[in-house]
Amino acid sequence: MADVLIKGKDICKSFANNGRQNHVLNMLNIEIYEGDFTVIMGRSGSGKSTLLYALSGMDRITSGEVIYKEEVISRYNETKMAAIRANDFGFVFQQAHLVSNLTLFENVAVTGYLSKDRKYKEVNDEADKLLEMMNVNEAKDRLPSQVSGGEAQRCAIARALINHPQIIFADEPTGALNKSNTTDVLNLMTDINERGQSILMVTHDLKAAIRATRLLYLEDGRVIGEMKLNRYSSEDAKSREAQVNAWLTSLNW
Ligand SMILES: Nc1ncnc2c1ncn2[C@@H]1O[C@H](COP(=O)(O)OP(=O)(O)OP(=O)(O)O)[C@@H](O)[C@H]1O
Ligand SMILES: [Mg+2]
Repeated sequence: MADVLIKGKDICKSFANNGRQNHVLNMLNIEIYEGDFTVIMGRSGSGKSTLLYALSGMDRITSGEVIYKEEVISRYNETKMAAIRANDFGFVFQQAHLVSNLTLFENVAVTGYLSKDRKYKEVNDEADKLLEMMNVNEAKDRLPSQVSGGEAQRCAIARALINHPQIIFADEPTGALNKSNTTDVLNLMTDINERGQSILMVTHDLKAAIRATRLLYLEDGRVIGEMKLNRYSSEDAKSREAQVNAWLTSLNW
């Protein structure tokens, strides 16, 4: 059994809404295992993004604990939390959110400079290597406004990898991409997971979900469904789609 990388214990997260509390996460328990490509699904508004933000320390929880490698990080102050986010976690969102006045190369490298104990040369070499691996090397000296959405997103993945994160958190990473860019991004994410990188991804897209080694389903503020899958291979994409579809149907998705 793989090690638990992140654990959520009795997580509650509420938002005040017109004087009433909206309990989005309600005594939620979850374990994310090292090496897994974990996918979270659930209806719109079920709290998937809220859960991702809670587990990654991007947002505070109302009560409960988030435990990362046996440390209760939900009790960390903002400085300590920011250090964990910078050094141990990588992030990919629906939009690439690149810094508009920096080239693709600079976007990746600057994130590396922010991490502790890294030399400029080492970071630069690695940024080059990652941009090549993500197949955007030719666009590396251009600004985000001068590249396609797919290229920008591949750069965002390179940026997420530059500090060798323990885990990549991805919220609908293919949500704004066309079909061919979606396939490219999913292939890259599958490759990096096969090299041992843990991934936690939220998605609505069946084509993205079938990349998982483990799927979780969120409803009423809790995890109510789980399914394990073998490692992805393109030959069994169709049968995986059928399997995940049947699982989602059984959960009234
Ligand atoms: N900052 C906030 N303030 C108030 N309510 C919020 C806030 N963030 C989220 N919510 C509410 O919490 C619920 C869950 O939102 P969340 O974004 O986590 O859903 P989701 O499952 O990611 O949905 P989608 O699939 O549409 O992205 C929603 O009802 C949303 O309106
Ligand atoms: Mg969301």
